[in-house]
Amino acid sequence: MRILFTGGSGKAGKYACRYLRDQGHRVVNVDLTPLVEDGIDNLIADITDSGAMFNVMTSYANFDDLDLGTGAPKFDAVVHFAAVPRILINPDHETFRVNTIGTYNVIEAAVKLGIPKVIFASSETTYGVCFADGEVRPDYLPVDEEHDVNPMDSYGLSKVVNEKTARAFQRRSGIDIYGLRIGNVIEPHEYENFREYFADPAVRRRNIFCYIDARDLGQIVDRCLATDGLGFQIFNAGNDTNSVDIPNEEIIKRFYPDVKVTRDLDPQEALYSNRKIREVLDFEEEHNWRKYVTP
Ligand SMILES: NC(=O)c1ccc[n+]([C@@H]2O[C@H](COP(=O)([O-])OP(=O)(O)OC[C@H]3O[C@@H](n4cnc5c(N)ncnc54)[C@H](O)[C@@H]3O)[C@@H](O)[C@H]2O)c1
Repeated sequence: MRILFTGGSGKAGKYACRYLRDQGHRVVNVDLTPLVEDGIDNLIADITDSGAMFNVMTSYANFDDLDLGTGAPKFDAVVHFAAVPRILINPDHETFRVNTIGTYNVIEAAVKLGIPKVIFASSETTYGVCFADGEVRPDYLPVDEEHDVNPMDSYGLSKVVNEKTARAFQRRSGIDIYGLRIGNVIEPHEYENFREYFADPAVRRRNIFCYIDARDLGQIVDRCLATDGLGFQIFNAGNDTNSVDIPNEEIIKRFYPDVKVTRDLDPQEALYSNRKIREVLDFEEEHNWRKYVTP
């Protein structure tokens, strides 16, 4: 497929772009800085500029496209990751502005240009736990996609707004638009940090003990590209198990004594449920932390 990928130069995006390239897709990265990588094309553009988004989505991927002599080929899908990725990088209003206007522009251009699929990065922070002022616990465990989204911060709010924007465009167009509520992204070199999590599991509370390997996130995006006809969908994007080495019974006793548990849980099963990506997208985790670090 020909994929237009926004934010491919960033932490998560570069692994997803590589994964998609390695599956044989043609990937054009749209970012403020290029991803210098074999087999990946780049266009420098700002997602907050609507005209630029319409323009890049009607562009040639690279010079070789000129040889076809048939004009710029159409993109088959847009994957939208570009964003301010958390609070406390920019002032709050700027985080909200870039993320909401940027996502509006990307999805509007894709839909109005007839691109049939959009996958976009939402976030675990929509559930309101991660960047809460003070301690907020989930309403119930495991946290699945039906859990209320009710953040109190500018970043989490921007992602909730983006989900509504996506839903509105999907409703009007009928195309497939899938949002990924991505957990804390872990690059291969970051498994070293898990020693800190084993020593003090409390540091993972704000992530509901979730992590997603950056390469497994690439697989999830690819599974979204391969799975058609689902309309508007939201998926939690996390790995199969928690990011700490204590069993659920102990996590719940220590951190969630009053939180309702809605079903039987395996001892290590992720409290940030990834059941939907496994059942609907056939996601199969390849990079469990146990391959890379020993408690
Ligand atoms: N890293 C995580 O743990 C995590 C967790 C949940 C969700 N997410 C989401 O996943 C996506 C990728 O996150 P990341 O960690 O790779 O972030 P990142 O900051 O490393 O990458 C974001 C990329 O977007 C680009 N970008 C920012 N503003 C832009 C603009 N106006 N126009 C064009 N490009 C712009 C940046 O240059 C950067 O390359 C984001 O949407 C983020 O909100 C990340």
